[in-house]
Amino acid sequence: MNYGYFDDPNREYVITDPHTPTKWINYIGTLQFGGFVDHTGGALICKNDPTFNRITKYIQQMPASDFKGETLYLRIRNRAPEKHRDYSERSDSGGEAGYKVFSPFFVPTLDHYDKYECRVGLNYTRILSEFHGIRTEVTIFVPTNASVEVRDIKITNLSGVPLEVDAIPVLEYTHPDALKQFTNADWIPQTMTSKAVKNGDCMVLIQYPFMNRDTQVNYFTSNLPVASFETDRKKFLGRNEYGTWANPASLQNAELSNTEAMRGDKLAALMHHLGTLQPGETKRLVTQLGQEANLEAAKPSIETYRDPKSVEDALVEIKSFWDKYLSTLQVETPDAAMNAILNIHNPHQCFITRQWSRYLSYYQLGLGARGIGIRDSSQDILGVLANIPDNAKGFLKTLLSFQKQNGSALHAFNPLTLEGSVGDAIEREDRPHYYSDDHLWSILGVTAYIKETGDVAFLEETVPFYEKDKQGSPLQTDSVLEHVKRALAFTRTDIGQHGLPLLGFADWNDTINLATGAESLFSAHLYGRALNEFIALLDYLDRKEAADEWRKAHAEMKARVEEHAWDGEWYVMYFDHDGTPVGSHKNQYGKIHLNGQSWSVLSGFASPERARQAMDSVYQHLDTKYGIKLSTPGYNGFDPRYGGITTYPPGAKENCGIFLHPNPWAMIAETLLGNGDRAYEYYSQINPAGRNDMIDLYESEPYVYPQNILADEHPQFGLARNSWLSGTASWMYQAGTQWILGIRAEYDGLRVDPCIPSKWNGFRATRKYRGVTYLITVNNPKHVCKGVEKVTVNGGQAEGSLIRADKGASLVQVKVTLG
Ligand code: GLC
Repeated sequence: MNYGYFDDPNREYVITDPHTPTKWINYIGTLQFGGFVDHTGGALICKNDPTFNRITKYIQQMPASDFKGETLYLRIRNRAPEKHRDYSERSDSGGEAGYKVFSPFFVPTLDHYDKYECRVGLNYTRILSEFHGIRTEVTIFVPTNASVEVRDIKITNLSGVPLEVDAIPVLEYTHPDALKQFTNADWIPQTMTSKAVKNGDCMVLIQYPFMNRDTQVNYFTSNLPVASFETDRKKFLGRNEYGTWANPASLQNAELSNTEAMRGDKLAALMHHLGTLQPGETKRLVTQLGQEANLEAAKPSIETYRDPKSVEDALVEIKSFWDKYLSTLQVETPDAAMNAILNIHNPHQCFITRQWSRYLSYYQLGLGARGIGIRDSSQDILGVLANIPDNAKGFLKTLLSFQKQNGSALHAFNPLTLEGSVGDAIEREDRPHYYSDDHLWSILGVTAYIKETGDVAFLEETVPFYEKDKQGSPLQTDSVLEHVKRALAFTRTDIGQHGLPLLGFADWNDTINLATGAESLFSAHLYGRALNEFIALLDYLDRKEAADEWRKAHAEMKARVEEHAWDGEWYVMYFDHDGTPVGSHKNQYGKIHLNGQSWSVLSGFASPERARQAMDSVYQHLDTKYGIKLSTPGYNGFDPRYGGITTYPPGAKENCGIFLHPNPWAMIAETLLGNGDRAYEYYSQINPAGRNDMIDLYESEPYVYPQNILADEHPQFGLARNSWLSGTASWMYQAGTQWILGIRAEYDGLRVDPCIPSKWNGFRATRKYRGVTYLITVNNPKHVCKGVEKVTVNGGQAEGSLIRADKGASLVQVKVTLG
């Protein structure tokens, strides 16, 4: 069973059956203004922050059949001679004198449709449907840099007879403080205010909580005359709200009540009488939902997007952005699912995680303190660096400004208030209030940015540390280089009884919260990886003394890991405060952890023999047909000694589920060890584009990676959840492009050193790097996984697999022969 198909030439996934196992979503706009839109037209929109400035009320937990945030109703007047036509079949639709009311989005009227298509595009969603002889095409998007959601609605009469059609777009507002909306049912409704304002020949509905009247108003408007409007939900649904979203009582009246509600539950509904549509005739309606300081400030935008030509131009602008974005790297491998994901959907997802961190999705509710994660966003940057280096650099500096003077970092921050937080650590008085990994991730970002751009001057740019004086000014500002050094120095000295980094509240795995004094092998390995990246940079800059000092630090930590952490067939993951290993054959649960093995290779700490054995243990104990499990066997019952992990049943999430984010780390480790067959096996088994035909088990969108899949200890083995906002996006993109296809930026050039499945004859790729386009052809005549036998650059023989950055040419032909 599938619910749609990949339309690669149009860079879309097309949903053809709206009964998807969960809502499948797409993103429009950015965090500055935007949100997500689901495949039935519902949308959650916010400006700058979903916690403190949310606009539409979209409640993820309500059933899929429910109205969520926004919809569009159409209605056709029932006429006596046609009363038995199929559009008058509902007994509650008003009968002879009334109207047939339906939504072209399927939800919330759940009517019969002849055709339904939702095209999930790059920052737009287009829903095309045919109901009762009316074809509707709605394109939903946010124009670049605008604070307005545009819905471009085209309605065509396909019925063969003239039809009198009304179009009623509707949205429901939330209080901007999204959590308060759910925790206070008196103050909130007392403040919610609406007004209708005539603006030339169009109607603008204004909405705000009273306190924001003079500073921040939402508006909803359209480009066609409005006969009547509604702002009060109770009146719209009718019958004291015993009217339903599926059949709002007010839509059986000729007109809406024109109520400017001064309190209550707020919506915006605009009644447009489109008149009689002749057979084949199309009418076009454009709606706008925006937020500005006041109506005056909104007017220029309102004027612009009332004009369908501006709407079309704005869509072209979005398309051009994506043409450029995606042209950074395009690949042609023998695997169609890999091509679809690497060329379109994975880079799209990377862009979305860069925007939203783990803040707002169908699963991440955008309420409360979560905000932008330091650890998460530092990793997201690695997935967009080559495409939008300036944006990545700016964001990296923002993240570095949440580093403390002692080198450690805050865990998260709110994008509106720029206030940092220590995350869930705050909930445990008895645990440390920092994470041992947060501050180390940005080092990978800094070094990767310089490799991509060659911009070594970045190291000297200044960024404040987080601590502030009473006036809110930073106590200390220093160079990016100093930030990197402090981060490494923090971990070098923040060590426990085995000389390994203290765990803090947690490391990458948020859910293992051991008592104070526990040590983390993850943070040891991440430190090792970051050190090696930094040492390579210092070598490149010819700073020998500094490089040697940090080499010593790497050797120190490597010696401790090798002395204490080898468990016989794999590495352990933690030492508890009393020195007991966690992730050892001695444990009853969680005997082996994936990250302990893959990262021992990534850090350069594992000897070649142990590295191979550790990764073979992963294959033997943790691999399943739907992905690699995080650990095994699962904890079976709550145990406060470990914390969060034991709140899940075995096989779910961090408790031995298939947590996807670490899967690409295992792929990268396999490529470092030269095993391209296994790296590709791991890659393919979690590629969602390869799941399209078995989606009833998997349930999540086939066009993006989810965060987790239930593993084989769970009865629903194979079920995916928490799609879109996951570090899986960035790391799968890196694993696929930089390590399997082997095309990666280095300080002095582009490396092409693939580690592919031996069955491949080769592949082709186009990569833009420092202003030059490289056309890369890789041939694999001897069917090896890894090993570059020969490279030619524009016909001339090159040395090794490094193609030196070429400033002269704009197009360079690279031919690589493996052997
Ligand atoms: C979630 C968090 C991430 C953490 C991971 C594992 O994805 O956003 O920060 O590393 O879970 O616990």
